[in-house]
Amino acid sequence: MSKDINKCKAPIGVFDSGVGGLTVAREIMRQMPDEQIVYFGDTARVPYGSKSKSTIIRYTRQIINFLKTKKVKAIVVACNTASAYALEEVKAELDIPIIGVVKPGAEVAASITKNGKIGVIGTVATIESKLYSKYIKEYNEDALVFGTPCPLFVPLVEEGWVNDAVTFEVANRYLAPLQDTGIDTLILGCTHYPLLKNLIGEVMGEEVTLVNPAYETAAKLKELLKEKGIENPGTGKKTPHEFYVSDAAERFMSFANSILPYDVDTTRTVSIEEY
Ligand code: DGL
Repeated sequence: MSKDINKCKAPIGVFDSGVGGLTVAREIMRQMPDEQIVYFGDTARVPYGSKSKSTIIRYTRQIINFLKTKKVKAIVVACNTASAYALEEVKAELDIPIIGVVKPGAEVAASITKNGKIGVIGTVATIESKLYSKYIKEYNEDALVFGTPCPLFVPLVEEGWVNDAVTFEVANRYLAPLQDTGIDTLILGCTHYPLLKNLIGEVMGEEVTLVNPAYETAAKLKELLKEKGIENPGTGKKTPHEFYVSDAAERFMSFANSILPYDVDTTRTVSIEEY
């Protein structure tokens, strides 16, 4: 069967509640430089981690409707909270592939732990969903999983305080109970947290391996595009990535430029409630 070149050249939709999903977009850019990304950050409604399941599903549906107007060929839910609460619900409604960040992160943690003790940090919603634990146990049923919500990390990252003494103090308080469990692996189960990786590593110490699910998610996406025969061949002029938010576009853009290997020169605001 010949490939539909327009489909192959279509963008990948990536979304998060804010800037956190940029850590996943960054990995996609590194691993698949020929792919075009359409990113949406729901900056008007962040954080998702303290919201109810039904609200997170409603927000996710609206964002997917918006991304569909951009004719995306696949969607990456670059938000653990939305992956935990909405992914399964919306999957059945879509005719394009969609993946989240929880399963890839759980699989890699389960495969690298030596003592079977794995910590997960994330939003209140992600930890309460126990989805990381479910996927880890599918892979290694004897694993012990210790989940701790770290809700203040998201506003601290959105504020840009990634190397701040206040954030260090907060991390010490949140992570102290995990240090007593003997974990050798810790999943950064919120896409904002890789931006605090150095600080979290300093608190946890060298013997704990930090897992950033963004890397494995991008690798899964690459496999999936290949399997469906819809990878971008990278021929012709490269289409620029597009960035959309629901609020504070300028702030988002300066943040994006501080972490992406890409020059973001435009970010547009979308009235996401209309979708
Ligand atoms: N970055 C998101 C996550 O991975 C959500 C943070 C939030 O909106 O609470 O869970």
